[in-house]
Amino acid sequence: MSMPTVPVITIDGPTASGKGTVAHRVAKQLGFHYLDSGALYRLTALSAQQNHIALDDEAKLAELARVLPCRFVHGHVLLDEQDVTDAVRAEAIGVAASKIAVLPEVRKALVDLQVAFRYAPGLVADGRDMGTVIFPDATQKIYLTASVEARASRRYKQLIEKGFSANMEDLVKDLTERDARDSARTAAPLKPAPGAYILDTSAMGVEQAVQIVLDLYAKASQ
Ligand code: C5P
Repeated sequence: MSMPTVPVITIDGPTASGKGTVAHRVAKQLGFHYLDSGALYRLTALSAQQNHIALDDEAKLAELARVLPCRFVHGHVLLDEQDVTDAVRAEAIGVAASKIAVLPEVRKALVDLQVAFRYAPGLVADGRDMGTVIFPDATQKIYLTASVEARASRRYKQLIEKGFSANMEDLVKDLTERDARDSARTAAPLKPAPGAYILDTSAMGVEQAVQIVLDLYAKASQ
């Protein structure tokens, strides 16, 4: 008898498109698990910084990623049992994450960890390559996007709320550079997965985006 497959909703898209918030809420509504795959790249970057490993040392970074001592507990991110929830969200760590994410060996080292998040009753996974590489058989694939300006202003608000300093001009520049790096890389570039629903949230609130994803999933799983 074949095992029924565990449903997965993938939400991919560029930096600060709101995927994290939408994915998290969809997961909560459905009682599904949630994978923030970007956090794994951020954790690897943070761990590299702490261990003085250069961001282009592919072999050492992959080694680090393969045995990443991380845990996700009630919305908190732990690295080596230290609470790094805020530290991993820092803009500089996001930039470092996008630099190491171009390295194929690092990506490969994180595959098993990501696939392991798929267990009953289901998973909502957010990232850049969830629908294209990690869960190509996902029940529903979403490509969530928004204009650079909308994304920069959302990121600005987030950073200020968390007590980080932020500057709109720098944010637009960082986002544009990260988009270019994520889309131009050869290993798992950022692009909509075949069959993905393109959801532009530039002029849309979170609730509306969440509802659209829930409706699409309900239809896909019929
Ligand atoms: O989504 P988030 O901004 O936290 O991701 C940080 C960086 O990690 C992204 O800029 C991207 O380069 C990389 N990433 C990736 N593949 C994923 C998730 C994140 O390459 N699935």
